[in-house]
This record gives sequence, C-alpha cells and structure tokens, in this order.
Amino acid sequence: MSHDDIPFARPFIGTEEEDAVIRVLRSGWLTTGVEAMNFEQEFAAFLKSPPILSTGDIHCLAVNSATSGLHLALEACGVGPGDTVLVPSCTFTATAEVARYLGADPVFVDVSPGSFHIDPAALEQTIKRLPPEKAKAVIPVHYGGLSCDMEAIMGIARRYGLKVIEDAAHAFPSALAGTVGDAGVFSFYATKTITTGEGGMIVCHDETMSRRISVMRSHGIDRAVWNRYSDARASWYYEVVEAGYKYNLPDVLAAIGRVQLARAWDLLRMREEIAAAYDSAFSGSEYLLLPPTGPGDARHLYPLRLNPQRLRISRDEFIQKLKEAGIGVSVHFIPLHTMPFYKNRYHLTEEDFPETIQSCRQEISLPIWPGMSAAQVNRVIEAVLSISGNFAA
Ligand SMILES: Cc1ncc(COP(=O)(O)O)c(C=O)c1O
Repeated sequence: MSHDDIPFARPFIGTEEEDAVIRVLRSGWLTTGVEAMNFEQEFAAFLKSPPILSTGDIHCLAVNSATSGLHLALEACGVGPGDTVLVPSCTFTATAEVARYLGADPVFVDVSPGSFHIDPAALEQTIKRLPPEKAKAVIPVHYGGLSCDMEAIMGIARRYGLKVIEDAAHAFPSALAGTVGDAGVFSFYATKTITTGEGGMIVCHDETMSRRISVMRSHGIDRAVWNRYSDARASWYYEVVEAGYKYNLPDVLAAIGRVQLARAWDLLRMREEIAAAYDSAFSGSEYLLLPPTGPGDARHLYPLRLNPQRLRISRDEFIQKLKEAGIGVSVHFIPLHTMPFYKNRYHLTEEDFPETIQSCRQEISLPIWPGMSAAQVNRVIEAVLSISGNFAA
C-alpha cells in the first residue's frame, strides 16, 4: 500500500482517546472496572436521549466483542443443543457460529429482493418448516446500519414463540436498531462506526436476562471483579454458579469507547456526507445500483452494486481495478451458505438462497470512514465512474 492509497476503513481517533487510555494506564486498574461501568451507564443514557428515546428498562452490558455478545444473548434465551436459530445467509459468520457454540444449528433465510435484509415472508415460511419446539430464536442483521423491518420480524417471532436477538454490529447509532428485540448487540470492532479496537455492547430489557448475561460474561461468577474488590468486607469471596465465559471488556478499551460514544452523532454526520456525495455521483449511472437507505440508517457501509447487464467486467475484476487505483474496498458478504463449513454440514447449494446470491454477488463496499477528505471521496467517485465507463457493455 502506498502512502496516498485510500484504505477501506480507518478509525477516527483523536487526542481525547489517547488521553483516556493514558488516564487508565496510570490509574493502576487495567481490567474491567469503573470505566466499563461508566461506559455501560453512558450507553444506556445515550439510548434514552433524543433522537433515540428508548423507553422502558434498558440494561447495557459491555463485552469484548459482538460475537461474545451474541453468544451470551442466545445463551440467556435458553438456546441449547439441538435447537435452531434463524439467521440470514447474507451476514458475517459470527451471526451463525454462535448457535454452534451452544450446540444449536443455524438455519439460513433469504433476503428480500434487492435488499441485504432478512425477508420476513421467507422467515415465516422457514419457521413453519421447522419442528416448533426446536426453533428458539431469530437473529436479524441490520446490514450496513440500516434497520430490518423489525415490526414484521417481531410480529412473526411473537406468533411462533421465538426470541429476537438483533445483530446491530453495524447499526450504531440508530433510532430503529438494537433496542426493539429481546436483546440487541453492537460491535466496537476496529472498522465499526464507533470503536474500542475490539468490543461490543449487549442491550436488553429484562432484569433476569441481564443478570444471566452478567454472570456468564465473567466465568459464571455471581459478582463482577470490581464489586468483589470494592467490597472491603468480603474482597476474596465469590461463588461459581455456572461454567461461564471470559467475555468482559477491559477498562483500557472501555475508556476509548466512552470518548467514541460522545462522538457518535458527529461521526454519523461525516459518513452521511460521504454517502450523499456517492449517491449524487452514482445516481444517474446505468452501470451502478445505489445502496438501499432509509430512516435511522447508521451508514456503516456503502454497499454499491454493479449492474451486470450493462457491464462487461466482473465484480472481482472491478475490485482489482480499484485496487490498482489505490482504493481499498471490501465485500459484504460472501453468503454463508456458500462457505465450506455451512454448505457441507447443512447440504446447501447456491440456489437455496437466490436473492442473497443476487444481492451479494455484485456488491462492492466503498470506503466511508469519517475523516476521509473531499479529495479522497472524489478519487473514489472518479475511479468507480471511470472503470464502469471503460467497461460498458
Ligand atoms: C454482521 C456482523 N455481526 C457480528 C460481527 C461480529 O462483531 P465482532 O467483531 O465485534 O465480534 C460482525 C463483524 O464484522 C458483523 O459484521
């Protein structure tokens, strides 16, 4: 990569994040403690503030990744061996692999035509095919930061007695994603809309579920480490009530998260500006299909699609040309049902989920990170327009 190449993603880190890390390093307490607790409280307050204005009880639990968050949420819903969890094929493997952690099986569902979101009608048909006592949960993915049709999904899930765990890894901040289902899970991975390097947050509304997640997050121990050491009377005492996991978020990372949280709306505005520039540049093009968008879109991705009818260049060759122009891009996603593990284990073929293939095969995710200069955005636009013009069918 040369120094004027444009990376696909780059975190927005300022002196405030640096200061926060140094503060924690000097405090003498590096693992989960008061920073993580404050991060959780500030996250809950954020969700209750305008424009999100989430009502009712909100429990926020910081974890070391969205993957562990999804795992804990499914576990707290009672998902176990032999159960099934419905997921879109158009997602990252984390969404499906967490079912396997618990001995359950992911069951894939196609996306709605022209979208990257689980299709409610296909979801209902799939649930009807499954043994009713085995279908335990559905994980809708708010792909790219745009909310799924949660009203339809919640209606179906309630009708068939399924829990809903929202995979909101891409969708912070959004007024429509992450706080509607039984639980929602956000990601703070390095490329995400706010980041702690690695990290995640589980949001749930039920006290019992929150307690279970809290215990299982730290080895099945009934009290968090901080509580143990801050309680002078019994600093050494704890009880193990389950074989839990080690999924806590350390204070060094939580401190970064607190600063990023305070920036979240500003960062969204920057991504919106880039998306608007792309939209206006590409909207007249017969070679390109613009990403779906709508209210509450966190604009984590800009998933452009090529129009194969009008181009004589494949998506993969198009990506190679962009790379030669010094532009980093990505693909979201290679459908899970085409991955060796899922394909072989569940005897799946490409044709099983035609809309997912249709949406993902022509997709290229363009850079959309806060801090991109106008000149960089223009370089991406010019490269995309020039390659598509050169390879017009
Ligand atoms: C849709 C989706 N879900 C879950 C994850 C997992 O997030 P994390 O890396 O925080 O575990 C990702 C990560 O890229 C993702 O894209």
